[in-house]
Amino acid sequence: WHISKLKMSVRDEAMYTGKVMLAPMVRVCTLPMRLLALDYGADLVYCEEIVDRKILMCQKYDNELLGTTDFILSDGTVVFRTAPREKEKLIFQIGTCDAKRALAAAKKIQDFVAGVDINMGCPKEFSVKGGMGAALITQPEKVREILTLLVKELSVPVTCKIRCLPSLEKTLELVKIIESTGVSAVGVHGRTKDERSRNPNRDEFIQAVAKAVKIPVIANGGSMDIKTLADMERFRERTGACSVMVARAAEWNCSVFRKQGPLSFLDVIKSYLRYAFQYDNNEMNTKYCVLQIIHDKMTELSEADKCLAAKSLEEFADIWDMRSEYIKILAQRKERQDELSQKHAD
Ligand code: FNR
Repeated sequence: WHISKLKMSVRDEAMYTGKVMLAPMVRVCTLPMRLLALDYGADLVYCEEIVDRKILMCQKYDNELLGTTDFILSDGTVVFRTAPREKEKLIFQIGTCDAKRALAAAKKIQDFVAGVDINMGCPKEFSVKGGMGAALITQPEKVREILTLLVKELSVPVTCKIRCLPSLEKTLELVKIIESTGVSAVGVHGRTKDERSRNPNRDEFIQAVAKAVKIPVIANGGSMDIKTLADMERFRERTGACSVMVARAAEWNCSVFRKQGPLSFLDVIKSYLRYAFQYDNNEMNTKYCVLQIIHDKMTELSEADKCLAAKSLEEFADIWDMRSEYIKILAQRKERQDELSQKHAD
């Protein structure tokens, strides 16, 4: 048992070392954005935070039509959709305040993902009042309990993503506890629960954490200075971390991961929409993501108002001159539907 755990820990360390990652973002990190980030060169992609209770309420559904595995609520809402192509690269982030429930949620999805991450950074009232997200970093015993159970019981690597505590000393105490649970890496966003994104990132806290622990540290919070892969590498060097995870820079232009340099926002929107069409992504989610990409061009872009008004994927196709591609995808889906009906009738 010890040898197999040791082998696993070597494997897991490599998985989180020298990597660039799409950081977890609610609403942004659904399947189309994750696949796009992988196309552009991200090594690992996080899903949006999903609360343990929610995934536990879902039914698993093999979606043969789209080639995905879906986790669906009884009203048909798709809570989590994943494609086989991302399995080895996908980190499933859980919102939790309870070790047993987190374990049950993680067990439900672990066969479809490469790793499980616990959100210990979300400062939103919804999370903190429920004892989740950033509420956890002031409860080291709870942190220990959740991570220890998950590390022991899951077959995939376990990590967590924290914010800093106001004092460096307390932050280091916390990460030492985290390290002692046997997690494979720790993500550190260099801001405290009460600091907003306009506050400078505490790169020096991340640096101190990276020095204090042996597990890989994933630096986060640097998006304001990140426009290219080279900027990510500078952020990594500055913080002395093993890897970098990027949220807003990727939300605004996901091609930030490209070795050859980022593409124009128009290219990114079109590639994003192709995946949204292909995987029948929810139209409100699609709209949100497209609006994030054009966020700083809202006033100058003639398409912006149309995007705000759009209510269907078809309308998005029209705005960006993609009708023929959209129709082709629908025709292929229809063909597949007919094949499946035939197969099930036989
Ligand atoms: C986030 N963030 C976040 N963090 C997390 O652990 N789970 C989540 O679901 C989310 N959701 C989320 C949504 C959106 C729209 C944003 C902008 C951010 C925080 C995010 O992962 C990251 O820690 C911060 O944005 C700081 O990193 P960047 O943006 O400077 O790279």
